[in-house]
Amino acid sequence: MSKVTVVGAGNVGATCANVLAFKEVADEVVMLDVKEGVSEGKALDMFQTAGLLGFDSKLVGCTNDYAQTANSDVVVITSGIPRKPGMTREELIGVNAGIVKSVAENILKYSPNSILLIVSNPMDTMTYLALKATGLPKNRVFGMGGALDSSRFKCYLSKALNANTNELEGLVIGGHGDTTMIPLTRFATYKGRPVTDLLDKETLDKVVADTMVGGATLTGLLGTSAWYAPGAAAAYVVESIIHDQKKIIPSCTLLEGEYGQSDICIGVPAVIGKNGVEAIVDYKLNDDEKALFAKSAEAVRKTNSVLNGLNVL
Ligand code: LAC
Repeated sequence: MSKVTVVGAGNVGATCANVLAFKEVADEVVMLDVKEGVSEGKALDMFQTAGLLGFDSKLVGCTNDYAQTANSDVVVITSGIPRKPGMTREELIGVNAGIVKSVAENILKYSPNSILLIVSNPMDTMTYLALKATGLPKNRVFGMGGALDSSRFKCYLSKALNANTNELEGLVIGGHGDTTMIPLTRFATYKGRPVTDLLDKETLDKVVADTMVGGATLTGLLGTSAWYAPGAAAAYVVESIIHDQKKIIPSCTLLEGEYGQSDICIGVPAVIGKNGVEAIVDYKLNDDEKALFAKSAEAVRKTNSVLNGLNVL
């Protein structure tokens, strides 16, 4: 019996739960939200698609009743406010830090062995906070930003190359921020061929720029944060955990010397399996990439330092 809880039944959380059930990633998917009736309603609505879509996963919704989340294998934390047009992810820290900390603590009362996947923004800082606040081992608390950013990278590459997304490889490391993420063009391939051989510099630069503001572009169009790709990205990471797929997924994880950084949670390629982050993979960055990574880490560290004034650590 596998059980996944998604905390926060807003657009991202609900999409994640929907994908988890549709793909039968877990036998039971629980959604929990603070708003009366919302997760119950969305869970029931999704459950009513089972007969149409042909899945057997069970869906449960509850309002703040953490007992219903008991013995979850994985808990996806999406709680908090999303950004509005023109806002950066970093501006959400004041409100979301308290929420994420209290959610993580409540979850562990009922699922002491669960793996926590952090989605709430600013995601790198919320991951760092959840890790410090819970005292869990680092493999069990990590953030999903890299899966989302890498999928956006592949989307823009696919448009530029007029190629199928699933025939592309592409990784985005660094922070999950408009100016901190690092699409690794040197490692991106189409059918085994480096995209640097297939696209001119100007086109590739545009792909990188579009990827970096992939979320902000959608916030501008939709008036709130995106949800289809963020929800699916979280489900993709959960699937690698529940099915012990050991996929290499850029994930926001605590670094202890890897990639030249320590005491920071930031995106790096990681092996994701039943124990969460099972290994960090060293992609041997060149000097330019190393410099970008150091700059990204500096920006994430600056956001982390705001936590000191919030009395949450
Ligand atoms: C985004 C938000 C979810 O990137 O961080 O769309």
